[in-house]
Amino acid sequence: MSLFRTKPVEQSIRETDEPEHRLRRNLSALDLTAFGIGVIVGTGIFVLTGQQAALNAGPAIVISFVVAGTVCALAAMCYAEFASTVPVAGSAYTFSYATLGEFIAWIIGWDLCLELALGASVVSRGWSAYFQRLLHLPTWLAGDKAIPDWGAIFIVVVLGVVMVVGMKVSSRLTNILVAVKLAVILFVIGLGLFFIRSANYTPFIPSAQSAPRTSGGNQPLVQLIAGVTPQHFGWFGILAAAAIVFFAYIGFDVVATTAEETRNPQRDMPRGIIGSLAICALLYVLTSAVVTGMTKYTNLNTGAPLARAFDQVGQGWAANVISLGAICGITTVILVLMLGQTRVFFAMARDGLLPQAVARVHPRFGTPWVITIITCAVVAALAGFIPLSELSELTSIGTLFAFVVVSIGVIVLRRTRPDLPRSFRAPGVPWLPAVSVAASIWLMFNLPVQTWIRFVVWMIVGLGVYFLYGRRHSRLQRSTTAEAQPAVR
Ligand code: ALA
Repeated sequence: MSLFRTKPVEQSIRETDEPEHRLRRNLSALDLTAFGIGVIVGTGIFVLTGQQAALNAGPAIVISFVVAGTVCALAAMCYAEFASTVPVAGSAYTFSYATLGEFIAWIIGWDLCLELALGASVVSRGWSAYFQRLLHLPTWLAGDKAIPDWGAIFIVVVLGVVMVVGMKVSSRLTNILVAVKLAVILFVIGLGLFFIRSANYTPFIPSAQSAPRTSGGNQPLVQLIAGVTPQHFGWFGILAAAAIVFFAYIGFDVVATTAEETRNPQRDMPRGIIGSLAICALLYVLTSAVVTGMTKYTNLNTGAPLARAFDQVGQGWAANVISLGAICGITTVILVLMLGQTRVFFAMARDGLLPQAVARVHPRFGTPWVITIITCAVVAALAGFIPLSELSELTSIGTLFAFVVVSIGVIVLRRTRPDLPRSFRAPGVPWLPAVSVAASIWLMFNLPVQTWIRFVVWMIVGLGVYFLYGRRHSRLQRSTTAEAQPAVR
């Protein structure tokens, strides 16, 4: 039963005040919203919008964005309730520890590495590709084909230094870069509106076609189970695209990892989480509608679809503005994903599931510097040496799995601890979280078979690590054992 021991919410909150583990609290609601937009708007909107319109959904990519956004909105309500009730670093990991027990918490902590560390590595390779193109660097130095990819290593190391120096510096940098990227997205929408031709919207939902079978593993799991021949376009295509553009929304949940560094988490966490998601959903729907209105969706299968759309209407000069937006935008995605990862590792180490020594906080900067350096080294090594472009779907499946667990956690905590003060209450519990679970699982099933296999392998490795290390060293386990054995006098 010790696998399912939970950590009382009060204990989690108390531990945030231990002097050697205390993080500095200086983030406001605006900082959190900027962090949210900082991590949400990135490669997804700059790359996937066009590719998925061309390959899977046509102009109905707008519907895919609405579907994925709705799934996220349901989960965001659950995250907002949790983060305002248990304002402790670690997000889904911490919530699971308080509700579903240590074993599930470990699984989620391990799973979050896919969203955060792997996500940061995947995205830093995208950054390097844009950087290489903008500065015309040699292709052996940076970009898709470079191994090692010095561009990716460079950006990860620079951001690592910023993260050690402090949250305030990180949030100032994020605020500036977020302003630039928002300006660029608004520029795309504002200028693009003038070039929309309604003919490009017909057919809005291209009729379903069987997809060329490049590899069986690329077929969404749901299509395999339903026994249909692999298809794109039509409604299956819209849903498959929704599962893939879901990547573009990843990040609002990462806001919750900084709960412990927020001045007034009870009030500001819900604002940061829901606010950033709502702003991004609106921008995504508008951007995808504009871009597919500017040119035929078939023209958009490229690494830089927004620039391509402007090229097609004779406004090629806009490409540089968009590249600048992409570079600024993707920088903050890497920064906040890595920040999130350090906070999850920090919480796990404080609980003894990882070596506790790594959770030390820097005496001057108030940041978990040891874990930050380790995280950056891992992300830089992954990004620098492994071609990761296909792994973004692994990041999505990891994130959706965390949504499932957090949504279940909301229902559980309402039952087990109805007394806890909740400054934000998700509406319609238990129905809303239940629909959130179903919707997240549905999107997971729309991801390719190959992604499922990789996900299962990663989780099995995690189980091994837990039984070999975490279970024995858990702080909760040690305190239970100490209580059970009377002290020797
Ligand atoms: N949502 C982030 C992006 O699109 C991960 O890059």
